[in-house]
Amino acid sequence: MRHLPLIILSLFIFSSARIFKNNFTSDHDHPTARSIDSTRELGKKIFFSSCYACHKDSGASLAPGQTILSAMTPRAVFAALTTGKMKPQAANLSESERKAVAQFVTNRVLTETSFPKDAYTSFSFTTNPASAFDHSGWGNNLEGTGYRSTSQAGITANNVSSLSLKWAFAFPDGTVTRTKPAVAGNWLIVGGQYGEVIAINRKTGKIGWVFTASAAIRGAITVRKTATSMVAYFADFTTNVYAIDIKTGKLIWNKRAGYEQNASITGSVAVYGGKVYIPITSLEVALAANGNYACCTSSGGVVALNASNGDEVWRYRVITEPAKESGKKKNGKPFFGPSGAPVWCSPTIDAARGVLYIGTGENYSPPTTTSSDAVQAIDLKTGKLIWSFQATKDDAYNVACPMFTNCPGKGPDLDFGMAPILVKRKDGKDILVVGQKSGVVFGLNPVGGKIIWQTRIGKGGKLGGIHWGMATDGKYVYAANADNIIAIDTTESHKPSPGIYALDVNTGKLIWEAPTPPCEGKNCALANSAAPIVVPGIVFAGSLDGHIRAYASASGKILWDYNTVKEYETSNGLKGSGGAIDGPPPVVADGMLFVNSGYGMFNGASGNVLLAFEVKKN
Ligand code: HEC
Repeated sequence: MRHLPLIILSLFIFSSARIFKNNFTSDHDHPTARSIDSTRELGKKIFFSSCYACHKDSGASLAPGQTILSAMTPRAVFAALTTGKMKPQAANLSESERKAVAQFVTNRVLTETSFPKDAYTSFSFTTNPASAFDHSGWGNNLEGTGYRSTSQAGITANNVSSLSLKWAFAFPDGTVTRTKPAVAGNWLIVGGQYGEVIAINRKTGKIGWVFTASAAIRGAITVRKTATSMVAYFADFTTNVYAIDIKTGKLIWNKRAGYEQNASITGSVAVYGGKVYIPITSLEVALAANGNYACCTSSGGVVALNASNGDEVWRYRVITEPAKESGKKKNGKPFFGPSGAPVWCSPTIDAARGVLYIGTGENYSPPTTTSSDAVQAIDLKTGKLIWSFQATKDDAYNVACPMFTNCPGKGPDLDFGMAPILVKRKDGKDILVVGQKSGVVFGLNPVGGKIIWQTRIGKGGKLGGIHWGMATDGKYVYAANADNIIAIDTTESHKPSPGIYALDVNTGKLIWEAPTPPCEGKNCALANSAAPIVVPGIVFAGSLDGHIRAYASASGKILWDYNTVKEYETSNGLKGSGGAIDGPPPVVADGMLFVNSGYGMFNGASGNVLLAFEVKKN
């Protein structure tokens, strides 16, 4: 899987964030203990009599499993039963019964997300369709370089130290703030943990519109503009993909991309040539914690949808062989396999070659495959595999490891979680640069996938090495190394070495290293796990201790440092607090820097803010 944050994330999102926090109490209504119990009992009864047969976690049907349903918002489940796909299954249920089962399965009270009135501003779109500051997708461009020019960013080594906080925006009830905003003219389009997608005025932090998806938005929002239209594309955790009209905040189409019961999405969609490319992972990595779960049958993959109507164009399953009985678990029951090889990253597009690149994670059960922990090239038109480069063989692992029944082996759990980066070398030839949780950065030939260079920058491990990404300005590649104390030992020779690293794109030679600065106190976690972004002269990178820093791209010297772990007065009037920074890279546009803060898992400090900084303009 993609480093522990994701796994525990799954467990946390489904357990603590919802169960402990909300547990059928809410500030909005104050139900008595008895009415809570009786509503819960009613919902439970309905679920097990009318839904469970199709929706159990290890069911054979395409119906999302109970754990996936629990990641949805109660409102989305209620809507599915009332006006959506499950209307026939709920034909005999009254409104209060539909509400009760929606609350039971999500373990949350059904309420509307609401913001104070003065959190809103009037929404209009005045900029011309091709604003120079527009910025979207996981890696900022098809090649995934994470690069912005000086004129796009408006931030230089000369003015970076004048960055100061302009506004903070708080997500209601948020604990993990991890989606990457898109910039469309004067608006940021950003997703939240409970499926809210919000247009926020980039100058004021006020809300233009709110769209409500069915579940958490984890990845980046991608915007496509034409002379007449402006559309935001994104996916939610339960594999619903959406196209929204930015000029109105209204849905154009919505399609569930998952092709297996426990399919889920953490990565970001890529949009190119009239298609939306969607990376697929599976919740089985976490469901395996239950020893009775029939582990495991899923495979990571990529689905291509028609960008104008959501129709499926092709579907690529990383593991080509279907799962069958494949061994015995500790309790004597059978394992099923092969499985796993999830795709956590956003697909990278090579328009010239007509190819899409992905990275894959480990296998969840025996037997292992040659497609796990691999970088793969897929034909953009047909979805057929062109080549596959496997960096780590025989990596079988899931959350049951090391001691529970469904543990298939020792790991070492060394996914390629980041999106590969396509960049030109000095000689004009392309190179594909990609970092692994092993702590190794590879330079691969985009034709055939052979290694051109490889450089170890970290010890690596489940919580080590390169997690979310790197960025490049064409000269150096800047990698965030997340090695931390619980990184497992993959090489004796390398000590954990968290920090930001610059390597020469041409040779992989180490140019500089900037170890994560020491920290103290309760939020101290020493590692750079979030992806960086680069503008000429500066690399911006967040760290698990909640600091966002600007490094000189030539030397690694820290030019600016801001500790986001604090309470904020917010532009939308809700309580805001900062925490660990993990996941997506920061966003820059027109002299402003936007940073997500809060990552409440793995002992990371939780938080719920999107912060906007601005440079002093002369
Ligand atoms: C006969 C089998 C069956 C029964 C019974 C059933 N479902 Fe479903 N459910 C499905 C299938 C199949 C899908 C996936 C449909 C799709 O994606 O096209 C689904 C999808 C859903 C979704 C996701 C809808 C969406 O728009 O993404 C929800 C929520 C849901 N079911 C809830 C329930 C609840 C609650 C019950 C009990 C009241 C229930 N279902 C009963 C088979 C069933």
